[in-house]
Amino acid sequence: MGRSELKLREMFSLEGKTAVITGAGGILFGTVARGLAQLGVKIAALDLRLEEAEKTARDVKESGTDSLAVAVDVLNQESVRNAYKAVVKKFGRVDILINGAGGNHPRALTNKEEGVYFHNLSPEGIKFVFDLNILGTVLPSLVFVEKMIEQKEGVIINTSSMSADTPLSRTVAYSAAKAAVSNFTKWLAADLAMNHSPLIRVNEIRPGFFPTLQNADLINKTPGVLKSSRGQDILGGTPMGRYGKPEELLGGIVYLCSPSASFTTGSSLAIDGGFGSFSGV
Ligand SMILES: NC(=O)c1ccc[n+]([C@@H]2O[C@H](COP(=O)([O-])OP(=O)(O)OC[C@H]3O[C@@H](n4cnc5c(N)ncnc54)[C@H](O)[C@@H]3O)[C@@H](O)[C@H]2O)c1
Repeated sequence: MGRSELKLREMFSLEGKTAVITGAGGILFGTVARGLAQLGVKIAALDLRLEEAEKTARDVKESGTDSLAVAVDVLNQESVRNAYKAVVKKFGRVDILINGAGGNHPRALTNKEEGVYFHNLSPEGIKFVFDLNILGTVLPSLVFVEKMIEQKEGVIINTSSMSADTPLSRTVAYSAAKAAVSNFTKWLAADLAMNHSPLIRVNEIRPGFFPTLQNADLINKTPGVLKSSRGQDILGGTPMGRYGKPEELLGGIVYLCSPSASFTTGSSLAIDGGFGSFSGV
């Protein structure tokens, strides 16, 4: 018992690994960064908002792990490349890349009450949200995978959404982009395993609904306040009857990053209180 217990501990251990996390200044992936730090993971916190990334990096350091905050625009290859150089200079390795940056924008949302239908949306608004979610996942993968190919091992975690399979009303660009993220996750998983190393794995999480700033326009006006008809619909469609808490993403992410998931690539893990398993009836 003693020996197998030790082995299992190793299988879930992330001690000493280096994780690059985009969107680490945000609510969900700031929490993920702080959580992974508690397991001894060194964190490169990347975000468009440097101040927020710095807050995350500070908290990581306080928990006793090394960290680095880098300003990055995940839509700009040069910016991502500069971040890559800074990360490699500081840590020398990239064991884990978590593509957390993403989100929605009011310019890409239809709104029946205000007479904004699909045909009224601006192509720029659609392009902004589409690019942020899909290109913002592809570009950091393209840049940071270079180190993983050199190491012949690494883990990429993408962030899809429940809207990838069954689109949510109003969110045309976001739903389509998250569907593309899921498709890209599978594509890259197969490509890297076959052309580089089976020890480079790519998986995704599919969060359900977590009240944060990015969806405040859709479900609430204030994060954490759950009263709107859309908010009621979401809770009605979630068998567990509540929103998720950011820390509830951690168990799945730790598993997918750890050696215990060594035969898992191209998979999607729903963390959604059952939303994706329920027809609503
Ligand atoms: N909140 C939810 O219910 C939910 C559900 C499913 C999926 N997600 C996904 O989870 C991820 C994080 O969402 P969140 O709710 O924590 O939102 P958030 O707005 O708190 O975090 C997103 C972070 O990404 C950063 N960012 C935005 N554009 C960027 C860019 N061009 N370059 C670099 N960083 C950029 C923002 O500054 C922010 O810190 C997103 O991909 C989102 O689509 C969220």
